[in-house]
Amino acid sequence: MLTASPTAVPADIDQFFTENEPRIRGELFDLLRIPSVSARSEHNEDTARTAEWVARSMRDAGLQATVHRTPGHPIVVGEWRGAGSTAPTVLAYGHYDVQPAEPLELWASPPFEPTIRDGRIYARGSVDDKGQLFLHVKALEALLRTRGALPVNVVLLVEGEEEVGSEHLSSFIEANAQLLRADAVVISDSAMFAPGLPSILSSLRGMAYFQIDVQGPSVDLHSGSYGGAVVNPAMALARILATMHDGSGHVAIEGFYDKVVDWGAAARDEIRALPFDEEHFRVETGSPSLGGEAGFSTLERLWMRPTCEINGLLSGYTGEGAKTVLPSKAMAKVSCRLVPDQDPQEIERLLRAHVERYAPKGVSVTVTHLHGGRPWRANLDGPLFDAARRALAAAFGREPVITGEGGSIPVVGDFQRILGAPVLLMGFGLPGENAHAPNEWMSEENFTRGLRAVAMLYQELAVNG
Ligand code: BES
Ligand code: ZN
Repeated sequence: MLTASPTAVPADIDQFFTENEPRIRGELFDLLRIPSVSARSEHNEDTARTAEWVARSMRDAGLQATVHRTPGHPIVVGEWRGAGSTAPTVLAYGHYDVQPAEPLELWASPPFEPTIRDGRIYARGSVDDKGQLFLHVKALEALLRTRGALPVNVVLLVEGEEEVGSEHLSSFIEANAQLLRADAVVISDSAMFAPGLPSILSSLRGMAYFQIDVQGPSVDLHSGSYGGAVVNPAMALARILATMHDGSGHVAIEGFYDKVVDWGAAARDEIRALPFDEEHFRVETGSPSLGGEAGFSTLERLWMRPTCEINGLLSGYTGEGAKTVLPSKAMAKVSCRLVPDQDPQEIERLLRAHVERYAPKGVSVTVTHLHGGRPWRANLDGPLFDAARRALAAAFGREPVITGEGGSIPVVGDFQRILGAPVLLMGFGLPGENAHAPNEWMSEENFTRGLRAVAMLYQELAVNG
């Protein structure tokens, strides 16, 4: 049932945000201007600069902050421990790295020049995740400036490799488990189910990402002189990829579903009760029709079923006109989204065995593992989630819904495993926000309300945490 909340955002906090809005927005725009693309080494200086920027912003907010070097991009840790040893400690996680902005020609305004149109802040990273991580820094600043202290101890952990698989983060967490010890973890790196409808996530899919390389002849060959007598690597790769699904959209890798847990009728009923408009979803994608594994609804396919998908394909001649060539090699990027209790390492073994089994003779096929992460599903009981419900209801005037998610945040499983703390995923994106795509945006209204919701969350965690 959706009801207005009896709790309101405290007046002093609300006023702080109202008065400081232009400054906060200006700072966010500065952060969005730095092209911290973690996947490209030519941006290494930008990611390092962004880490320093985030640390400085934490210090300006009144926290202590340190930048930790890793073999990859730096990790920033902010701390405020003035609430005393009996108060709870909250760890907030975010990522300052962004996806590559290409293809640039499809952006209506430059990706690293934030622009407001129709109540939306357009920029690469606006919603994923700079805008959302900044909510936490500014919420803490608001509490510190208006009240002089925070009601809880706080650790902010901000990494620069989330978009490339968080390779160095779990070892950092393991090595610094004492520093990062927390009673609760909060993450704003996801979307609300619909405009005006605040949401708490109960699940994320995991990930197992591979590159498949097929090598045939040592050079490209004339397809007339050699075609039909030399095995074609592009054809070989196509054959291998085609064996990965059956005609009903099930993944056909042997053993792939062995560990998949049935969510049960109650969970499916809850999914069905959400206000989901399938046609609206289709239109948003621009696809002629939706499709997937037989026997499941769209939301079920996205949240509780695993996938194996081609993310990229490369082989042969793809330029203008025709070139009769037998390519010497072919490559595919393939990733599987995983659901509880699938294990990324086991999926890697199964996929390797599958590729080996179906690789035709006459080519050599190699599978390289790129990155992986565990799936996550939580029981949303306890004071952390009650506090989040109150904070979201106060800021949005509406009780939050519980939703699942098809995307992945690899570190979430680690937080639960290494820190033993419950994880709250409370995001402020929206459907159609173009994360990872051209024209990424964050809703201005969600930014404004998100500031208040996050500030109130920290407040509520102290009161009832
Ligand atoms: N913010 C996303 C995670 C996400 C995606 C949350 C969609 C809610 C909806 C995150 O930055 C992301 O994109 N993660 C990657 C992780 C991957 C590189 C392991 C993803 O899901 O592709
Ligand atoms: Zn992302």
